[in-house]
Amino acid sequence: MPENRENYFPGLEGVNIDTTRLSFVDGKQGRLYYCGYTIEDLAAHCTFEEVAYLLFYGELPTSKQLYDFKSLLLAERYLDPHLKSIITLTPKTGHPMAVLQALTAQLAMHDREIADKSLEAKKRKAIRIIAKLPLVVTYFENVRTGMRTMEPRDDLGHAANYLYMLRGKEPTPEEEKVFDTALILHMDHGCNNSTFTCRVVSSTEADIYSAVVAAIGSLSGPLHGGANERVIRMLESIEELDEVEPYINDKVEKKEKIMGFGHRVYKVMDPRAKILRELAEDFVVDDPAMNKCLKKANLFYKVAEERFQKQGRMDIWPNVDFFSGVLYKALGLPRDFFTPVFAISRVVGWVAHHFEQVEDNRIYRPRFIYEGAALGRDFVPMNKR
Ligand code: COA
Repeated sequence: MPENRENYFPGLEGVNIDTTRLSFVDGKQGRLYYCGYTIEDLAAHCTFEEVAYLLFYGELPTSKQLYDFKSLLLAERYLDPHLKSIITLTPKTGHPMAVLQALTAQLAMHDREIADKSLEAKKRKAIRIIAKLPLVVTYFENVRTGMRTMEPRDDLGHAANYLYMLRGKEPTPEEEKVFDTALILHMDHGCNNSTFTCRVVSSTEADIYSAVVAAIGSLSGPLHGGANERVIRMLESIEELDEVEPYINDKVEKKEKIMGFGHRVYKVMDPRAKILRELAEDFVVDDPAMNKCLKKANLFYKVAEERFQKQGRMDIWPNVDFFSGVLYKALGLPRDFFTPVFAISRVVGWVAHHFEQVEDNRIYRPRFIYEGAALGRDFVPMNKR
């Protein structure tokens, strides 16, 4: 018999699906912790590699451990020539998130250890994925813009090498720090949709690449990581500061969602948005065009908040995607690279969750409430329909 709606949790809101040691999102206080450390401390004092190590092993590394971990990443910082030729043949009109998905599947096919299910091999594959995803999208950007294709450099950190390969020039120390911090802020975030997707696929005992391919697809959606690209398109579509308020009014009247606002868990300002806003304020100061963009973003934030609060909505605030775009634009990243930046960082969280899932696995297999046609209908043969 079909069930009633008693056990029905749309969007799985409030449902705990497993335990984790990786991150904790405190939606009431607006706090985020990785392995117990506040995101503010990690963002201020660490590099991408240190925080990736933390999510991998549960503790911050000593300098020797960090050196060894970086060496593992560096040893995988190259692309097989065959993969490069596949990227060269990829349609230039393809969205970089689609390129990431397709090329992650290709990486799996090029991995000689793909059939090795041991934990040690899985860890090596995870390192390979983290090291190679940035190369895939930056190489694609080199090819599609017709610039010379860049080779990765061993003397640069993960964040700096990404900017170097994407833009063809070494970042300044300030650019490197800002970008590194943005990567740290995006690395893990509780049971977000793409991480859940990664866990669902991992729970079938599919390989780690398949779980990451699926997670990239989830992240690309506008309600998830795809929002950051939409935010900058929205801000760019508003030419002058005095157009901000009418734009918001129009959205509210049409009951349309405003990109970069709202969150399932945070009912106050997302702590990552606060840090990104501060970073943007310091970073864009010398560039008049970027200053204008930041002013628009700040005014947008203020006016939208006033509108939401007037409507009694005290729970809708900017999320991580609202201010990140301003920063990425200031760093010279193409708009369709904003979500891939999210991906090359969140992949650390995905692989860490893959390991938690397989450690004590039970396949995800929830249910639907059946509301279709009457059960046991009379079958009508084709010639009588
Ligand atoms: N603009 C306007 N209203 C919003 C809103 C937004 N960005 N986000 C949520 N709301 C409103 C909804 O209209 C809904 O109102 P109602 O109660 O009157 O129906 C209520 O808040 C709850 O929204 P809902 O979409 O059900 O919340 P959710 O928890 O399912 O979804 C998000 C969370 C993030 C998907 C949602 O806030 C959203 O779509 N935001 C815009 C996209 C975005 O920035 N995504 C990045 C997330 S990090």
